[in-house]
Amino acid sequence: MNRILLLGAGGQLGQEINKDLSKNHDILSLTKKECDITNYSFVEEKIKLFKPKVIINAAAYTNVDEAENNESLTDNINHLAVDNLARLSKNYKVVLIHFSTDYIFNHKINEPISEDEKKDPINVYGLTKYLGEKSIIRNMENFYILRISWVYGKYGKNFPKTILRLAKNKKELNIVGDQIGSPTPTSLISSVINKLLVLHFKGDNYYGIYNLSPSGSCSWYEIGNFILERLKDKKNFKLKTINKISSKEFKSLAKRPKYSYLDNSKIQKVLNVNIRDWKYYLKDFIDSNYEN
Ligand SMILES: NC(=O)c1ccc[n+]([C@@H]2O[C@H](COP(=O)([O-])OP(=O)(O)OC[C@H]3O[C@@H](n4cnc5c(N)ncnc54)[C@H](OP(=O)(O)O)[C@@H]3O)[C@@H](O)[C@H]2O)c1
Repeated sequence: MNRILLLGAGGQLGQEINKDLSKNHDILSLTKKECDITNYSFVEEKIKLFKPKVIINAAAYTNVDEAENNESLTDNINHLAVDNLARLSKNYKVVLIHFSTDYIFNHKINEPISEDEKKDPINVYGLTKYLGEKSIIRNMENFYILRISWVYGKYGKNFPKTILRLAKNKKELNIVGDQIGSPTPTSLISSVINKLLVLHFKGDNYYGIYNLSPSGSCSWYEIGNFILERLKDKKNFKLKTINKISSKEFKSLAKRPKYSYLDNSKIQKVLNVNIRDWKYYLKDFIDSNYEN
């Protein structure tokens, strides 16, 4: 079997990928405790010993607000450690699969953003992720960068899970309605990686940068309302009203782009995957994750 090294295996995406790929691949999955990607010699040692064909890097500093006060730590993880991973991947002839974010953009026109459009990160997290991307592009050729947005899934913390939890106790919530993107389920990301690996190990390589998020855009407020509409008649669901508020009213440390919806047509075409509307995935997630 082809060997895959998964880094950041304890995160919400890392856990999903580990669960899915363990079925068909020889995978070594390491959490931050088991392998800190900022420890360069340790990472190299792992590569030398395990001899992976592919490295999947799901490790990142992802707290967008806290990143504003921890610029150097965020840069070490999202940029410099990624630079190191790219160099090692090149030296040891390993393919690198890495994740980036819609927060490298800050679009002024409300039209889906394709892969090559102008980058304009407006917070520390977005900037360090962008620098991480650039390091990979500069150092190597055999890589896949998947740009994902507003990630959620059954593992870890995320927006839909927070709403599901709050809805059991609160009648009313205020949610930001003037940021537009698309919520991406970890199950979709993991299934696309599976497909990509099948193609890759058959010798069909489509290296490069891909946007990967569901079709159709929405705001955080619309996600909240979708959950409300779907569950309002359930016994333990207390939530009755969601108020739409502006980013200005919702105080946060980091600025966020008003529009960062990713155009997913390239990945659909090149990898021949069928990506559905955000509501399709969210409905599925709510139905299997809401416990009465
Ligand atoms: N979450 C989103 O909405 C979102 C949106 C767009 C893109 N992405 C990207 O998607 C990828 C996966 O993110 P996620 O949502 O799964 O985030 P996550 O749940 O925060 O997972 C990230 C994991 O990386 C680990 N980590 C942090 N520093 C590390 C280090 N120095 N060495 C090794 N591991 C380290 C974290 O461990 P600790 O928790 O112990 O620190 C955590 O387990 C990241 O590249 C992220 O930038 C995420």
